[in-house]
Amino acid sequence: MNIKEIISKMTLEDKISLCTGADFWRTKDMEQYGISSIKVSDGPHGLRCQTGEADMIGINQSIPATCFPTAVTAGATWNRDLYYREGEAIGREAAALGVSVVLGPGCNIKRNPLGGRNFEYISEDPYVAGKMAASFINGVQSVGVGTSLKHFAVNSQEYKRMNGDSRLDERAYREIYLAPFEIAVKEGRPTTVMCSYNKINGTHASDSKELLTDILRDEWGFDGLVMTDWGALNDRMAAFEAGCDLNMPGGSDYMNKAALEAVKNGQLDEKLIDTAVERILRLIEHSAKIEKCKVDFDSHHSLAKKIATEGAVLLKNDDNILPLSDSDFVLIGSMAKNIRYQGSGSSHITPTKLSSICDSMPSIPFCDVGNEVGEVSAEEIGQAVSLAKDKKTAVLVIGLPDSYESEAFDREHMRMPDGYIALVNAVSEVNLNTVVVLLGGSVMELPFADKVKTILYMGLPGQAGGEAVADILLGRANPSGKLTESWPVSYDDVISRDNFSVRDPEYREGIYVGYRYYDKAGKAVRYPFGHGLSYTQFEYSDLRVEGREVTVTVKNTGARDGAEVVQLYVAPKTSGIFRPEREICGFEKLALVAGESREVSFVLDDRSFAVWSNGWKIPEGDYVIELGSSSRDIRLCESIFVSGEEVKSDCPDTWYHTLRGTPTREEWEKLMGHSVPVSREPKRGEFTMDNSCLEMKKYSLMMKIQYLVTKSIISKGIDGKKDMSNPTYKMMITSAVDCPMRSAVINSGGMMSESLARGMVLMANGKFFKGIAAMMKK
Ligand code: BGC
Repeated sequence: MNIKEIISKMTLEDKISLCTGADFWRTKDMEQYGISSIKVSDGPHGLRCQTGEADMIGINQSIPATCFPTAVTAGATWNRDLYYREGEAIGREAAALGVSVVLGPGCNIKRNPLGGRNFEYISEDPYVAGKMAASFINGVQSVGVGTSLKHFAVNSQEYKRMNGDSRLDERAYREIYLAPFEIAVKEGRPTTVMCSYNKINGTHASDSKELLTDILRDEWGFDGLVMTDWGALNDRMAAFEAGCDLNMPGGSDYMNKAALEAVKNGQLDEKLIDTAVERILRLIEHSAKIEKCKVDFDSHHSLAKKIATEGAVLLKNDDNILPLSDSDFVLIGSMAKNIRYQGSGSSHITPTKLSSICDSMPSIPFCDVGNEVGEVSAEEIGQAVSLAKDKKTAVLVIGLPDSYESEAFDREHMRMPDGYIALVNAVSEVNLNTVVVLLGGSVMELPFADKVKTILYMGLPGQAGGEAVADILLGRANPSGKLTESWPVSYDDVISRDNFSVRDPEYREGIYVGYRYYDKAGKAVRYPFGHGLSYTQFEYSDLRVEGREVTVTVKNTGARDGAEVVQLYVAPKTSGIFRPEREICGFEKLALVAGESREVSFVLDDRSFAVWSNGWKIPEGDYVIELGSSSRDIRLCESIFVSGEEVKSDCPDTWYHTLRGTPTREEWEKLMGHSVPVSREPKRGEFTMDNSCLEMKKYSLMMKIQYLVTKSIISKGIDGKKDMSNPTYKMMITSAVDCPMRSAVINSGGMMSESLARGMVLMANGKFFKGIAAMMKK
């Protein structure tokens, strides 16, 4: 394929047209130029390849594929090799179905436990998220299939995800929110990057040249294609200028005419369009080389089980209740039968098979109590108690119901259903050996933590999750997962609580996300970042720091084989610029048979010590190299001096140095370096294509009608029920009525026309006749 020659033959119209997809999952083919279309499919923990009706929120059928554990569980393995193998397996399944690009991995930071898509993301820490994402990318791409690293960037909440403005300071941006993408881009070299829906400090990601060209391409060396998230395009001309190449999904050709006019009248440089076309053609050329391969679904199922097993986090295990030494126990809770193994939304996979916990332990008595929203009646609690009291051990399977977490909406609170809490309280009263198995994609408050002996957190463990639970309970496998996010005691302890899930979130906590906050503020947590127990024990010895090389010996001192995630933190003792207590700069998972000891080495780089201050700078001074088993279980340390430069104190005398209380708006504005207008709802006269039907309905009869019609059409598809506790309904409603008009045009594949949408916006602004005229425009 001679790309330059093809471009030289293409008309301007066709070039612009190629930069919008053909339909939901395909790019356009243009036979006249020998351009064939390619297909992309959702991931990231399996393939959501649709051949029938398409959608972006996982409601229509997709071809069965291996449903691997979601990122919360895969991340908790801390096993790069395993995540690479997951990527490779997904890549094979993609290649077999002719899919050229898997839409993942997701690399956004878990800023707050209530993020609706936290289950799809890897960590609260940029280093861990970036390293794991890079491994996944390398795995998928090893079979020739491409990836789309998403959602770039600062897209850590679902509320107003399509038009909210993430407002943050430069250090938080660079050190926390961009850093995982930077690592994944540099070490994974993804074929594509997906830009996010939201604005960042007032500019949509798809319009941001700073983000998509200056940082992504010029600084990090990315040489692939940028596509939009589905419906994320804000302004086609700005997007071309920014380096946003492909508008997805296709069908609408939104703003293509305007782009054509802009080139013709000299406002937009045609070269920018040529560059976008070239990147699309390069991806097509690359895709043509993908070889179809055979898929061994059984071995992928076994791999999914291995990942679920290694990602299981044993949060506590008093008196070594686990592993169970006999079968004198009962399984309690409907989730043991209807296991929650994945989340809702665009990542929803149709599994090739599914094993529940009950299926995996058929001879164990099962007490089926609790419904799908976690309600447990008094009678059911009575049943559970009477069964549990005569058994040596009671195993409760509980967690977050489907309706609690999903793409498209954030969680309302950090609690589990009251019914489950009552169940645990009652059972643990009569059975002193109560084990809780937790299923759910994100952090939960655990008011019963001190009442039960054991808690095993499985995350959302994928299609083989039931088998993994059985193996761990019965001692056929030894858990080795570690938390990639801190578990606070209660939501009140979360520093971003007042600035999360609001229209234009102010990232007032700056760089203090997760353990960076808890450790420096000295706040108690339920379970710290990096925590996870094993059925065996590990001893650390012989720490040596020679220049930038750090070596430590780890020994399995117990009687069982197991694996330890050795974590290396750097704790700066420098003065001047504010810094967290410690930051993770290395990790390695070591599988050690009983009695075995092994040496592990890490090499620190400049970034292990650097801060962002108009560029990466190393503050000169003392640093402590800490080796440990969690951020709060440091086993060995050694102090070193690192030469660098003096980096002046920023925001002196503010919260950022003391972490006492919460940062005020004034302090945050100091950090931002300028004043920031207070966010407010838009009103009549101000509406643009960036506003949603929900935002405008108060001012416009037409929007109100559209709102009601949409609601009733959606509910008709779901047994006529307008039930907000149904995650599918809630997700569909939010996605349909609170999506900006521009996204409605794009995501409807043009069924809602651009002129109709523009007319409706004019009407909502009180310009009725202008609106009618706009609607009539071709
Ligand atoms: C999601 C993406 C997904 C896309 C296509 C969007 O709503 O944010 O993660 O890849 O839909 O389904």
